[in-house]
Amino acid sequence: MADLRSTFAGISSPNPFWLASAPPTDKAYNVVRAFRAGWGGVVWKTLGEDGPPVVNVSGPRYGAIHAQDRRVIGFNNIELITDRPLQVNLQEIKQVKRDWKDRALVVSLMVPCTEDSWKAILAAVEETEADGVELNFGCPHGMSERGMGAAVGQVPDYIEMVTRWCKQHTRMPVIVKLTPNVASILRPAEAAKKGGADAVSLINTVNSMMGVDIDAMTPWPPVGGMGTHGGMCGPAVKPIALNMVAEIARHAETRGLPISGIGGIEKWRDAAEFMALGASNVQVCTAAMVYGFRIIEEMTAGLSAWMDEKEYAGVDEIVGRAVPKVTDWQHLNLDYVVKARINQDLCISCGRCHIACEDTSHQAITSMLDGKRHFEVIEEECVGCNLCAVVCPVENCITMVPLAEGEIDRRTGIKVGGHRSWIEHPNNPNAQDPRPAKHAAG
Ligand SMILES: Cc1cc2nc3c(=O)[nH]c(=O)nc-3n(C[C@H](O)[C@H](O)[C@H](O)COP(=O)(O)O)c2cc1C
Ligand code: SF4
Ligand code: SF4
Repeated sequence: MADLRSTFAGISSPNPFWLASAPPTDKAYNVVRAFRAGWGGVVWKTLGEDGPPVVNVSGPRYGAIHAQDRRVIGFNNIELITDRPLQVNLQEIKQVKRDWKDRALVVSLMVPCTEDSWKAILAAVEETEADGVELNFGCPHGMSERGMGAAVGQVPDYIEMVTRWCKQHTRMPVIVKLTPNVASILRPAEAAKKGGADAVSLINTVNSMMGVDIDAMTPWPPVGGMGTHGGMCGPAVKPIALNMVAEIARHAETRGLPISGIGGIEKWRDAAEFMALGASNVQVCTAAMVYGFRIIEEMTAGLSAWMDEKEYAGVDEIVGRAVPKVTDWQHLNLDYVVKARINQDLCISCGRCHIACEDTSHQAITSMLDGKRHFEVIEEECVGCNLCAVVCPVENCITMVPLAEGEIDRRTGIKVGGHRSWIEHPNNPNAQDPRPAKHAAG
């Protein structure tokens, strides 16, 4: 049976599934229930500096985008860091770590951008014997207006500076949590690495506004008649997070920096995808908030069964496996050709593929044959764009079938089998190696 044990930034846990810093990890009651359910670790809800705790709104602090079946596909919040007293949190952290030695317990931190503030909080956390700290440089609302969270995470120099302070003032592993609200994730990740971070975690939430009440003309969710931007998470942000994880894993400046993948993870398969793109472990928030802690059962059982099937003995064998297959557009094979194919046994003749292709793609799907509704791909017109497969309501009814080597693409008349990227393509005015097409027409 696959071994799910994981070591991340020197911190071990019985499985690679941690709860992210957020309401599920806000207090001992939650964390203990999560550990009982089987979570491998937690990042405690972000602590701030000693003194009067922050104050949250008492109006709605969450918003969501629902699919038609009411499944939550995007979630947004305007919550701040913990609003419980620092000492209460620290005592609970100490007790939980004592009682659950085999689980990872990392403490998320966010204090003002001065060395003394970081030094003081690190010393206090060390006393709890927590396994590590995560620097919250990601929160995009409320705290960023006070010069913390994303206000630090958007300035690589600040990330490097604070990370360096933290490495100087603690023996605990330091994980830097990154904000996705930047033009390129590489600069912040590189800064964390330069500052000496043991690892990075990403993503924190995406700047967002979930909607507008157009009767009241108020952004949603409204608090006393006004609204503000918040941070979005949940399944809708997973593609953003996957890309950012892959960017860090594959670029020379950041390669090798351990990554904790976060963003829209609901099932074991999501976790496996993050790990394939370079994350050593994963963190989950929204899915736990929507479905409860017991989703961990599907996650561990599913990952374990899949690893057995694929004969992966341990989680490290998955990490980064797909990274060599990530490239830039300019390196893709422009001679690779696929055509859509409709399985007539599965087709329910709804016509969506025809409308989509007819109105916005390449007019490559019929709607009628011999006076009857009939949907079939016209190969001479199909560019293999995949739109029809995306809009078809029947799973696997439309598949994209690659043309075999030597076959003629009936759209272009070109024989399939070459391998030209844009870099060497004859149509590229800056082509580095402008060879004639390997397989010319016919
Ligand atoms: C209500 C809520 C509160 C959050 N609070 C924190 C926080 O205090 N510190 C932090 O680093 N991230 C916080 N996050 C961000 C999550 O830890 C996580 O990075 C983000 O939600 C993406 O993961 P998900 O798609 O699994 O939810 C919060 C998220 C939510 C939904
Ligand atoms: S793959 Fe694109 S071009 Fe081909 S049939 Fe489908 S929608 Fe039309
Ligand atoms: S969208 Fe799918 S089910 Fe509907 S007509 Fe096209 S192939 Fe058939």
